[in-house]
Amino acid sequence: MTEAINTPFEIEIAATGQRIAVGASQTALAALQAAGFDIPMSCEQGVCGTCLTGVKGGVPDHRDHFLTDAERAANDAFTPCCSRSQTPVLIVDV
Ligand code: FES
Repeated sequence: MTEAINTPFEIEIAATGQRIAVGASQTALAALQAAGFDIPMSCEQGVCGTCLTGVKGGVPDHRDHFLTDAERAANDAFTPCCSRSQTPVLIVDV
């Protein structure tokens, strides 16, 4: 099995401009929680959609099994428990 390669990226909080670093071995959800953002979550495997978070800029690297292709194409939400970012910065609405 091929492991997905994780690269670090930054999350920017749309409302405040705060930047949060997401390390290569860390999930976006963990980085947000460590920064004090209380994101609801359940499965942590990209299945349930509980953690769904709005995206205002950048392009998510979707690794969930929850969003449809059309929802991914809309580029307005991602699941931070497992998904990452294709762009160096992902701007989110939390
Ligand atoms: S916690 Fe279930 S999809 Fe993220």
